[in-house]
Amino acid sequence: MASEQGFTLWFTGLSGSGKTTISKLVVKELEARGSAIEVLDGDVVRQNLSKGLGFSKEDRDTNIRRVAFVADLLSRNGVPVITAAISPYREIRDEARGHMDGRFIEAYVKASVEECERRDVKGLYAKARAGEIKEFTGVSDPYEPPESPELVLETEDQTPEESAGQIIAYLEERGLIPARSS
Ligand SMILES: Nc1ncnc2c1ncn2[C@@H]1O[C@H](COP(=O)(O)OP(=O)(O)OP(=O)(O)O)[C@@H](O)[C@H]1O
Ligand SMILES: [Mg+2]
Repeated sequence: MASEQGFTLWFTGLSGSGKTTISKLVVKELEARGSAIEVLDGDVVRQNLSKGLGFSKEDRDTNIRRVAFVADLLSRNGVPVITAAISPYREIRDEARGHMDGRFIEAYVKASVEECERRDVKGLYAKARAGEIKEFTGVSDPYEPPESPELVLETEDQTPEESAGQIIAYLEERGLIPARSS
């Protein structure tokens, strides 16, 4: 067993809410402190671990269960993990929490559909509105926000750096990462 304390920082939020952006900043900060953390990003997972899965409720659930399975394997062996997938369904997130119990930290990356649509980083909202993408979360598919997440990142009122800082402070407070040495 590794001596490091494992945990799963589980991001959930709409497309364009900031999951990938914030995850990169958290990784950068932890690396600067000499701590490693693995990332399971939704887009990357869908290109390999979940290749071939679509966006029906069943396929979305399968995708998220796979993410949870890998996050559990890593975190229980002392490897901190960030998952950065939309994970729209509360029930499946709670199932993941159930497997990982005290190692599970849910971070709601909060931004309204209107704001995400305004950002439209990947041009997906425009396509969804035009009917070119079916089953698009927030437009034509459900998103169920968490009811009592450990963290809420208000991305409409914060910079990405502030959101990442909020996470780092929380992890420090929980004693899950070493405090900055300098
Ligand atoms: N406080 C904030 N935190 C994160 N991102 C922010 C914030 N404020 C503005 N943004 C902007 O919002 C966008 C978020 O895009 P990002 O790709 O990180 O979203 P995502 O949640 O990973 O989406 P997807 O589910 O499609 O992968 C970026 O352009 C980022 O600069
Ligand atoms: Mg992303």
